[in-house]
Amino acid sequence: MGTSRMFRIFVVLGSAFMILLIIIYWDDVGASHLYLHAPVSPGPRVPRPPPQPKPHATRTPSFLNDIDAFVNQFLEPGTGEPTDTVPALLGSGMENGTGRRRRFSDRNNQEKRRRLLQEVCANDSVAFPGKNRSFDDIPNKELDHLIVDDRHGIIYCYVPKVACSNWKRIMIVLSESLQQEGAPQRDPLAIPRDLVHNSSMHFTFNKFWKRYGKFARHLMKVKLKKYTKFLFVRDPFVRLISAYRNKFEMRNEDFYRRFAQVMLRRYANQPTPPASVDEAFALGVQPSFSHFTQYLLDPQTERDAPFNEHWRQVYRLCHPCQIQYDFVGHLETAEEDAEHLLRLLRVDNVVDFPSSQRNLTESSWETDWFGAVAVEARRQLYKLYEPDFRLFGYDRPESILNE
Ligand SMILES: *[C@@H]1O[C@H](CO)[C@@H](O)[C@H](O)[C@H]1NC(C)=O
Ligand SMILES: *[C@@H]1O[C@H](CO)[C@@H](O)[C@H](O)[C@H]1NC(C)=O
Ligand SMILES: *[C@@H]1O[C@H](CO)[C@@H](O)[C@H](O)[C@H]1NC(C)=O
Ligand SMILES: *[C@@H]1O[C@H](CO)[C@@H](O)[C@H](O)[C@H]1NC(C)=O
Ligand SMILES: *[C@@H]1O[C@H](CO)[C@@H](O)[C@H](O)[C@H]1NC(C)=O
Repeated sequence: MGTSRMFRIFVVLGSAFMILLIIIYWDDVGASHLYLHAPVSPGPRVPRPPPQPKPHATRTPSFLNDIDAFVNQFLEPGTGEPTDTVPALLGSGMENGTGRRRRFSDRNNQEKRRRLLQEVCANDSVAFPGKNRSFDDIPNKELDHLIVDDRHGIIYCYVPKVACSNWKRIMIVLSESLQQEGAPQRDPLAIPRDLVHNSSMHFTFNKFWKRYGKFARHLMKVKLKKYTKFLFVRDPFVRLISAYRNKFEMRNEDFYRRFAQVMLRRYANQPTPPASVDEAFALGVQPSFSHFTQYLLDPQTERDAPFNEHWRQVYRLCHPCQIQYDFVGHLETAEEDAEHLLRLLRVDNVVDFPSSQRNLTESSWETDWFGAVAVEARRQLYKLYEPDFRLFGYDRPESILNE
């Protein structure tokens, strides 16, 4: 009786002491890490001494430094080697005769696209804002397009106007964040549209800060190192046409008020544009595609606010020189790329890529759409989006720019 009671008290006190230790230790990690970050250079690795009862204060920061050093190897622009996980993954299943050629060409495509990214990032004659900074220097709010799925180890950088609804649907299915009658929703197309774009459905990097505090950056880097990262891109000019059609040719109150009214006032001699989108449509008042390009080229636009995500450059949304993407999909080959990617992520048995029946903007329309835009403006617009053309292997649209 007496001993068992003593024992219980001992256990309780012991636990309390452990909890106290954890609390102190937790705070220590962040603080000492700040001090140690600069002066301590790890030097040649020495084998760790065997675990001791209270080494926390000295051991942990160097542990974090190790992670930093390790992860930085892969994140610093220009120093990266291609991750070998992907070819390894691709290699599996290639023994099967059928489909072998196709898989082989998929693989070559991906190798080419990844190599191009590395070359352009390392090429000093291609310059754009933020290119030289390190991952640590990217502000949190600029990481809001990276969706993380811990269950499968996937990171998706979504680019609006590039099949992003469909990929967001797939990320919701994979993360099982939506329940339907007690079971996770498995059908991407059954997810209501407003939920797909509701940011509360997606765990993005910029939310790490809230959840993990001081550890957020370390954790991001570990995940960036370990997870398979992908994005989808398309011809930058075609993306602009698509954005214009989707946001200004259709009734969209929000975009009308935030952007169309501004364009009408500034470039269409309409000091008092119609108050609502319905009125504007009834009167046939819309900003033209040419007004839209004027808006993009106007220095005042970015002084007011950064580009809206529907027309913000991919290099600003996804940081391809700081994050080494394993897979770069092209919308122009969306179906093949999707099939390939789902196999690569080993989820092709879990989910199918919803095939799109929508009326996609075609590259062949470019000439028509840009017909009303002055050639000088087209060239400036190319300059504005040139990094995206270069990074993702889209040719300079000579026929539009040389008239
Ligand atoms: C090869 O793949 C096809 C379809 O992908 C399948 O029908 C066939 O059984 C496979 N053959 C072998 C030897 O695995
Ligand atoms: C870097 O880019 C320039 C043009 O912008 C190109 O002429 C040159 O070949 C590129 N260098 C490499 C090493 O790819
Ligand atoms: C980036 O660094 C290179 C040299 O490392 C330099 O030539 C270039 O001007 C820098 N670009 C920017 C935008 O700072
Ligand atoms: C997003 O979803 C949350 C909860 O699921 C809801 O409270 C919120 O109103 C939604 N936001 C929008 C813009 O629909
Ligand atoms: C697609 O859109 C274009 C132009 O907006 C229109 O001319 C064409 O008829 C549409 N096609 C379909 C199948 O809706």
